[in-house]
Amino acid sequence: DGYALRPAPGATAPVVRPRRLRTTPAMRAMVREQQVRAGQLILPAFVSEALSEPKPISSMPGVVQHTQDTLKRAAAEAAEAGIGGIMLFGVPAVRDACGTAGVDPSGVLNLAIENVKAEVGDALTVQADLCLDEFTDHGHCGVLAADGSVDNDATLAIYADMARAQAAAGVDVIGPSGMMDGQVAVIRDALDTAGHTDVAILAYGAKYASAFFGPFREAVDSALQGDRRTYQQDPANAREGVRETVLEVEQGADMVMVKPALAYLDVIRRVRDTVGVPVAAYNISGEYAMVEAAAANGWIDRQDAVLETLTSIHRAGADVILTYWATEAAGWLR
Ligand code: PBG
Repeated sequence: DGYALRPAPGATAPVVRPRRLRTTPAMRAMVREQQVRAGQLILPAFVSEALSEPKPISSMPGVVQHTQDTLKRAAAEAAEAGIGGIMLFGVPAVRDACGTAGVDPSGVLNLAIENVKAEVGDALTVQADLCLDEFTDHGHCGVLAADGSVDNDATLAIYADMARAQAAAGVDVIGPSGMMDGQVAVIRDALDTAGHTDVAILAYGAKYASAFFGPFREAVDSALQGDRRTYQQDPANAREGVRETVLEVEQGADMVMVKPALAYLDVIRRVRDTVGVPVAAYNISGEYAMVEAAAANGWIDRQDAVLETLTSIHRAGADVILTYWATEAAGWLR
């Protein structure tokens, strides 16, 4: 009887109708504000010295600890998919108090840099984690003082050696993730005085002591007891995250990172609005695991959830996104 179409007495029908711009796929595509590009994705990858076969990481379905051989294959696939880079993490066979294997030119990570660079050349940026936690027998990101605390300045000297070793192996971008004060200045100086002025630094300026790192600790067979709260930041502090990224830009960082991503989208936005350099965000292991677990249970649509995740990080202001879905998502984004 037309009753439902008549405005209530005294009311008028809406004149402004935002739904007009959502009527068809073509209309929606036309007004879409932004879209993630394959070229801005970075694939984090783990390589182990002890394995002869790749080993699945149970808390990260679909992600493995690679051998040098399977890592090369994964890098070639990533290049083929058109993503921007690969971020390498090494899992050594032997660990010690000072993380010696991270500095050794034939250590697992430095070897991986060399192998991947030889495999992909300039088709991908080859990036490496610069941190001691995978290499120390206590699992901390730096060396320990006599009282058991993490010794900032003694750690910096090792970071400098590690930076020179990674540069000599052919790395394009170094990602210092250890949250030691002054790390970017020391690494920049070590690189420059050794003639590696073209090696870029992606500094983890806003890195939080997060529960969502859980699966990563399995991924690198972490030896850590306790936590990293004396060097990683308090999840409650957004201003402090912005401040650290500013400090790292002053020290010579070419790009800065916010990590984790999803629980810190506000920090990504604030950093984006503050610094002039590209901002990266790390969609970390626990964020990956949550989506994979829910999707495996049929509780969410996997592909839609992955793309929505990446879109949200991009929308928050990230120019570059590190994600374990990088190669697969690149296929969907094509
Ligand atoms: C530390 C480091 C961590 C990650 C990368 N490098 C976390 C940590 O153990 O504190 C986490 C990556 C992820 O969770 O996906 N060098």
